[in-house]
Amino acid sequence: HSQRHLHSSSRIRNPPLAFAFDIDGVLIRGGEALPAAKEALSILEGNNTLGLKIPYILLTNGGGMSEVERCRKLSKQLGVRIDPAQYIQAHTVLKSVAHKYANAPVLVLGGKGNTLRAVAESYGFNQVYTSLDILSWNQSVWPLYNLTQGEHSSVKNADFSQLSFAAIFVFHDPRNWGLDIQVMCDLIQSGGVVGGPYLADSTRNPVDLVFCNPDLIWRSDFERPRLGQGAFKDAFQAVFKSLTGSNYPHILYGKPTDATYSFAEMVLRDRLRGQLPSVYMVGDNPESDIAGANKAGWQSVLVHTGVYDPHRGPPTHRPTHEARDVLQAVRWALAQEL
Ligand code: G3P
Ligand code: MG
Repeated sequence: HSQRHLHSSSRIRNPPLAFAFDIDGVLIRGGEALPAAKEALSILEGNNTLGLKIPYILLTNGGGMSEVERCRKLSKQLGVRIDPAQYIQAHTVLKSVAHKYANAPVLVLGGKGNTLRAVAESYGFNQVYTSLDILSWNQSVWPLYNLTQGEHSSVKNADFSQLSFAAIFVFHDPRNWGLDIQVMCDLIQSGGVVGGPYLADSTRNPVDLVFCNPDLIWRSDFERPRLGQGAFKDAFQAVFKSLTGSNYPHILYGKPTDATYSFAEMVLRDRLRGQLPSVYMVGDNPESDIAGANKAGWQSVLVHTGVYDPHRGPPTHRPTHEARDVLQAVRWALAQEL
């Protein structure tokens, strides 16, 4: 598969050409594929004048399920087979840090119920808990929400007064901001023990805090962009600052961070047998897709089907090119190369 890509893509140029596609607002909106997306990917799959297969990856700040499961859904939505080897989501990069917490209790936030527990365990985390596990253990942790029957049946039981959490990973967008911010503030101020005494910063165990998606907003199928994990991070930091007088130090992954684009380049090299391609990134969010691609030295194409609204003035990060949609973006990029 990648040999064919190498052969075809490097036949037209050296270094070979490759694309990186954002998903929400570019290929998909809400649950539906954008019409332009299917034709754009079909062209890269070989439906073009030269009959060339052009390699591409999907690079999203989304997530909330396993890469395999998301690729199954995307393949159905887009009408082409998306292989997990060409798919990077917000928390995929955590595969490279899980070993550091292999035997420590970690709190995993975001996604539906305990869907992410299995994903985190598949990455190499072995003591994975969710905020619903904690609420199921003691309802008074957050008296304003009662677990549904379904949520109760999927919790992992533990006596959290005996557990000291080493880290909090916000894998995907939290569904219950109040519960999650409350549990984060309890864990951090007590050095990792839910319900433990709040200790001074200098005397307590540090609890590592990792966010996987900086997006303040993202484009679903509503007319206006929706609040993303970046908004949740701001909400947590504002509450934590009101409680303690300072923000809490954290690690940030996801577009536009260097870590995520370096990880994407490694994936692209793997697909091109070590060769670093010339990459065209197609995205809808200047703050994440365009900023990150520009910083990585990629060509960036900003489309008008997502977060960015051309009626509200120029983008905060200047793309190499602007296009109406992903099909026009692919056509323009190939016209530069072929
Ligand atoms: O939760 C997903 C959203 O933040 C953005 O997704 O595909 O536009 O990077 P995407
Ligand atoms: Mg997007």
